[in-house]
Amino acid sequence: MDVVAVSLAQNNRCYEVIVADDWQGLGPFIRGCVDSPHAFVVADTNTLPLAGAVQSALLDAGHRVDSAVLPPGESQKTLSSAAILYDQLSDVGAGRDTLVVAVGGGVIGDLAGFVAATYMRGLPLLMVPTTLLAMVDSSVGGKVAVNHWRAKNLIGAFHQPIGVWANLIALVTLPDREFRCGLAEVVKYGVVLDAELFDYLESRAESILDREPSVLAHIVGRSCRLKADIVTRDERETAGARAILNYGHTFGHAFEQAAAYEGWRHGEAVAVGMACAARLAVQRGLLSRDVAERQQHLLERFGLPVVPEAWPLDGIVAAMRHDKKSLGSRLRLVLPDRLGHAALVGDVSDEEVRQALQVE
Ligand code: GLY
Repeated sequence: MDVVAVSLAQNNRCYEVIVADDWQGLGPFIRGCVDSPHAFVVADTNTLPLAGAVQSALLDAGHRVDSAVLPPGESQKTLSSAAILYDQLSDVGAGRDTLVVAVGGGVIGDLAGFVAATYMRGLPLLMVPTTLLAMVDSSVGGKVAVNHWRAKNLIGAFHQPIGVWANLIALVTLPDREFRCGLAEVVKYGVVLDAELFDYLESRAESILDREPSVLAHIVGRSCRLKADIVTRDERETAGARAILNYGHTFGHAFEQAAAYEGWRHGEAVAVGMACAARLAVQRGLLSRDVAERQQHLLERFGLPVVPEAWPLDGIVAAMRHDKKSLGSRLRLVLPDRLGHAALVGDVSDEEVRQALQVE
């Protein structure tokens, strides 16, 4: 078991991310985090068997347990789904001490987290990520949101969980496509923060794809530590540090939105977004071609797409302008300048973006 502490400046709080390989410790972990008589578990139809194990742990820990099950997929991450969950919370008599437990990937975590942030002005939230992507990124750091038709994650909040229980067992049965999506976020950490992690991913690609438990434990633990460090330094993305984690995401969110969230999954869109951002950085003379190529090869090795679809460029640029990182009409992008380091660049022109989107 690996324990990663996330220290928060606000209210001098700290919570733990547990990287475990069983459910046994979950009940005692919850008891140590929160004193709550009632839990409301949110899962989707894919995570239902895992939600069963979580519910048993909650019952053992003395909670009254209610639950909601949603269809899977990014198209569920809407205000309408949130409204359904508000109704259900109200139906079961949830109070301010009800613990919302998100059992799922990024969609369930973001949606249940958004509901926890807003119902009765805030309920405690426990994250139980069941995908690699949620374990290494979305369950840690308190960003919760639903999508708006104009842009992904446009309506949201910062609502830190009381704890995160990442059980690597969930990765054994994770569909291949979902697993590869998570690898996109791990590659992101390597490119923008940790050259050593990037080298590790290159040298252990085979074992990673074989899902060797010790290798998975390493990449999940390392990614969570990198994220925890950033969140400690810049919890609300006001100091610049946290924005670096959006590498590839401004392009990626625009791709997801262009396909009405029915095309690439988030991790796939981010992979193509990173390839575009690296190309733009090379065009600007910021990044060496060699690093951009290493990134591209690694993404391809992990079976991720790297070439944008032939969407109308104007639509993609317009969607990128709606990204939360844009300032007024200026596009701001995270661009790597060497392996393990990146900067937020505020003067990116539409023409540069168009060029980066066009791959011969
Ligand atoms: N996924 C980027 C962040 O949490 O800041």
